[in-house]
Amino acid sequence: MAYNLLKGKRGIITGALDPNSIAWKVAERVYEEGGSFVLTNAPLAMRMGKINELAAACKAEIVPADATSIEDLTQLFEKSVQILGGKIDFILHSIGMSPNIRKSRPYEDLNYEWFMKTLDISALSLHKMLHVADKTDSLNEGGSVVALSYIAAQRVFPDYTDMAQAKATLESIARSFGQVLGQKKKVRVNTISQSPTMTTAGQGIDGFDAFFTYADKMSPLGNAPAEACADYCVSLFSDLTRHVTMQNLMHDGGFSSVGISQGIVDAISPKS
Ligand code: NAI
Repeated sequence: MAYNLLKGKRGIITGALDPNSIAWKVAERVYEEGGSFVLTNAPLAMRMGKINELAAACKAEIVPADATSIEDLTQLFEKSVQILGGKIDFILHSIGMSPNIRKSRPYEDLNYEWFMKTLDISALSLHKMLHVADKTDSLNEGGSVVALSYIAAQRVFPDYTDMAQAKATLESIARSFGQVLGQKKKVRVNTISQSPTMTTAGQGIDGFDAFFTYADKMSPLGNAPAEACADYCVSLFSDLTRHVTMQNLMHDGGFSSVGISQGIVDAISPKS
């Protein structure tokens, strides 16, 4: 069901690679709610992905940008304001990549150059985006920024390795920039800590199926799917949440508040 919650709002959506991407679902929901936006992704990912199909379905233009490049980001914001015919009301940061995870490096033996890459792509890119958005004066008063995070920022999960530090940094950047942009322009900055979700980035993690099933069994509501995450993003981009900022918002079916669930008890000690 659509409510026109984003009618007249303009935005930038990063990270839509294929129809499984969380950002893909967000783009579809934002479009349904009347928002207009520019889609962006790293130039390489755009060649591999299917972003053109999404752009056609949402009547959106694509501006390629490597989210670690200030030059690319400057172009992205300048072009987006031009294409959309006004300043930006919402931004989705949906970007994550760890070369250490891709190459299955154990936590105690990380490659530090790759570690820096993980941090740059997955966390500092949010700082760079907001820095450029502010410098180019591209943000509208009362706008909203959402970045996607994971509970590994607070708790340890095997094989999430340096992405745990990236997510902790991402959440911290959201708080710090939330203060700056809130004071300057009443712009909100929040992170959504999302359940494990079957996407390219998610499934790249060793043991992901176990993370997924365990979280699902622990959560009273079950894992939150990407479609529900998209709904939550819409609510955060809308004016209904105009006083929510600098928060890490759990979107996890209750996972983060559970010690142990009956499902896990039964799996460990089945009743005879
Ligand atoms: P995805 O693989 O569909 O999206 C990741 C995106 O990051 C891709 O579109 C990729 O092209 C983009 N990207 C990588 N390097 C880039 C760069 N240098 N510049 C611009 N874009 C770049 O996977 P998913 O799961 O939709 O990931 C989106 C976000 O959600 C990520 O931040 C991820 O960590 C987060 N997240 C995912 C969860 C999951 O279980 N899938 C759980 C919690 C958070």
